[in-house]
Amino acid sequence: MHVLSRSAVLGSFLLLAMNAQSQTSQRQYQLQKSGDAPPVLRLVDAAVRQPAEHEVLVRVHAVSLNRRDVYVMRGQYPGPMPPNLVPLSDGAGEIVATGTKVTRFRKGDRVAAIFFQQWIDGRPPREYMASALGGAIDGMLSQYVTLNENGLVAIPGHLSYEEAATLPCAGVTAWNGLVTRGHTRPGDFVLLQGTGGVSILGLQLAVALGAKPVITSSSDEKLARARKLGAIATINYRTTPDWEKSVREATGGVGVQQVLEVGGKQTLPKSLAALSFGGHVALIGGLSEFGGEIPTYELIGRNATASGLYVGSRADFEALNAFLEKHRIKPMIDKVFEYQDAPAAFAYMDSGALFGKVVIRL
Ligand SMILES: NC(=O)c1ccc[n+]([C@@H]2O[C@H](COP(=O)([O-])OP(=O)(O)OC[C@H]3O[C@@H](n4cnc5c(N)ncnc54)[C@H](OP(=O)(O)O)[C@@H]3O)[C@@H](O)[C@H]2O)c1
Repeated sequence: MHVLSRSAVLGSFLLLAMNAQSQTSQRQYQLQKSGDAPPVLRLVDAAVRQPAEHEVLVRVHAVSLNRRDVYVMRGQYPGPMPPNLVPLSDGAGEIVATGTKVTRFRKGDRVAAIFFQQWIDGRPPREYMASALGGAIDGMLSQYVTLNENGLVAIPGHLSYEEAATLPCAGVTAWNGLVTRGHTRPGDFVLLQGTGGVSILGLQLAVALGAKPVITSSSDEKLARARKLGAIATINYRTTPDWEKSVREATGGVGVQQVLEVGGKQTLPKSLAALSFGGHVALIGGLSEFGGEIPTYELIGRNATASGLYVGSRADFEALNAFLEKHRIKPMIDKVFEYQDAPAAFAYMDSGALFGKVVIRL
């Protein structure tokens, strides 16, 4: 017998209520701030903005969380936070209305939003950074969003809304690091740190690229799961503090050709110690703390590259989607929460218990 959980039943009721609602009003999460206290996540009634000429109205079906969203929630994300910000950059849904001059999409199309709404391709000028969903501007934790048609990509047919919602930040970042900037080749060793969103999609991409992923984690149980996904070597960074030596050993002494550096200040020196000649470190995160020194002399001597990257463009996202479709890759979802349980999803994300991605279904 199939037994529905209490939250699943509540979620179904909520969904029915939402569908019965007109598209002029909705329930939306906002981060509300008063004084110097950290923002508070509140579910409020909000208007649905009808699309202008080049805009579409998207009924959001799933969103996912990134470490950044925890920083935003705590008021620790750089830059001023707009009042009553709708959080989260990552979401996927269905187009339910289009502006009169929209040409890229039609009603009924399945889409995901791009992280920087204005970054389509090429080099991003500074002003594009002010178009980041769920940070500089309102994000996706909302039943409906109204976005410019250029700020969306079609989602691959083999992915559910939940799976597609995991991609805009973590997925595009992993792709940018490994492919756009990293030019990973078959046979390359790829170092992934921890088993969060960027690293686990990075592991899945590395396997499909014919590369050899080496991954670290604080949990042996998570490392066993990573092996099942194709990691050729796994190292517990808690029980093996000198893990960079084990990484080197795993590569036969050569070192890794690629690193998705999400650890930051504490892990960067170890990542560089594990790097091969001609290798590439994608500077991505600061799980230990943002910062760290780049030893130019060593990088020069090894003909190695370190590149700072901030998610990626729509072109990166489209290339990622094509690759996922070709290789039938489904992103790893750890846990799915119902819309009314969004605060619990943030708490779960903050706990570090996750393996892959945390999703909220609407
Ligand atoms: N530059 C960009 O465009 C960009 C894009 C996305 C993310 N980021 C940044 O990249 C980092 C990862 O983001 P995410 O969303 O993938 O995070 P996440 O999903 O929250 O990943 C958290 C996991 O990372 C591991 N971890 C925590 N501290 C660690 C440490 N000191 N060393 C190694 N691993 C550690 C843990 O894995 P185990 O439990 O297995 O130990 C933890 O469960 C964050 O700092 C985020 O802000 C940057």
